[in-house]
Amino acid sequence: MSSSDFYRHARAYDIAFGDRDFAAECNFLEWCWRAHGRLTQPPSPPSFLELACGPARHAREFGRRGWSVIGLDLSPDMLAYAAESAEQDNVTLRTVVADMSDFDLPAPVMLAANLMESITHLVTNEQTVSHLRAVARNLLPGGVFVIEMAHPAWLGRDTLPNMWTAHHGDTEVDVLFGEADDPYDWFTQVWQVTSRLTVRQAGRPAYTIESRHPHRWYLAQEFRALVDLSGAYEAAWWYGDMSIPPAPMDNGEVADQMIVVLRRRGG
Ligand SMILES: C[S@@+](CC[C@H](N)C(=O)[O-])C[C@H]1O[C@@H](n2cnc3c(N)ncnc32)[C@H](O)[C@@H]1O
Repeated sequence: MSSSDFYRHARAYDIAFGDRDFAAECNFLEWCWRAHGRLTQPPSPPSFLELACGPARHAREFGRRGWSVIGLDLSPDMLAYAAESAEQDNVTLRTVVADMSDFDLPAPVMLAANLMESITHLVTNEQTVSHLRAVARNLLPGGVFVIEMAHPAWLGRDTLPNMWTAHHGDTEVDVLFGEADDPYDWFTQVWQVTSRLTVRQAGRPAYTIESRHPHRWYLAQEFRALVDLSGAYEAAWWYGDMSIPPAPMDNGEVADQMIVVLRRRGG
């Protein structure tokens, strides 16, 4: 089963990865915009692009706050699910089926985000630099791009297998993301990650969706070098979590994420 098959089961994915405080994460994204954006005339309404959006939980939250919102993803099934959920919330969500490493929107936005390690789907330096440039191309000058990655301290097999169970209504999903013996290539830094969702819903037979797909987790200095290589951003800030104000990206007890905030040139 390919990566796109895994994401085709959008509702199961949404339950599996949906136990997060999306409103608080959006507050943090707004804080990033206020702290680091530099637009002479911000658009009205403010605009937000969620990259590799999956169910587009963040875009939908910004939509509820009155922002103009776009969700971009490679998977038409994920976007169909996101659009249907937005409609239920009375939110106008524009969806774009595209590869995040090369896309063009009809109009640039002021704030963009690539969250929950989705950037790990880009496994070569070329794809990542192309992504950084594509996002900058679709940001207003002085606009802000926020990328959420795992703290490098988490990159290791000693935390595998990574398993949990999530619930929503009458549905329970057992999740496995990464087995201890998943192959890792030390040269390309590409990890072939096993993912498994077992879905149990009252009155229906249980089923399992399994896939193995390539991911690359980034170290801080190589990511910094790729941002520099892109030539598209005038400033960068590094944080260790999504609190307001955020913890610094360091080796401390608090920092458990690697969050990079970039400002597009020309503001
Ligand atoms: C971890 S999931 C969704 C994350 C979502 N942002 C969240 O916070 O829940 C990753 C998403 O990336 C999408 N994806 C994978 N490769 C992509 C690419 N090259 N371009 C755009 N989307 C991609 C998948 O279809 C999937 O919906």
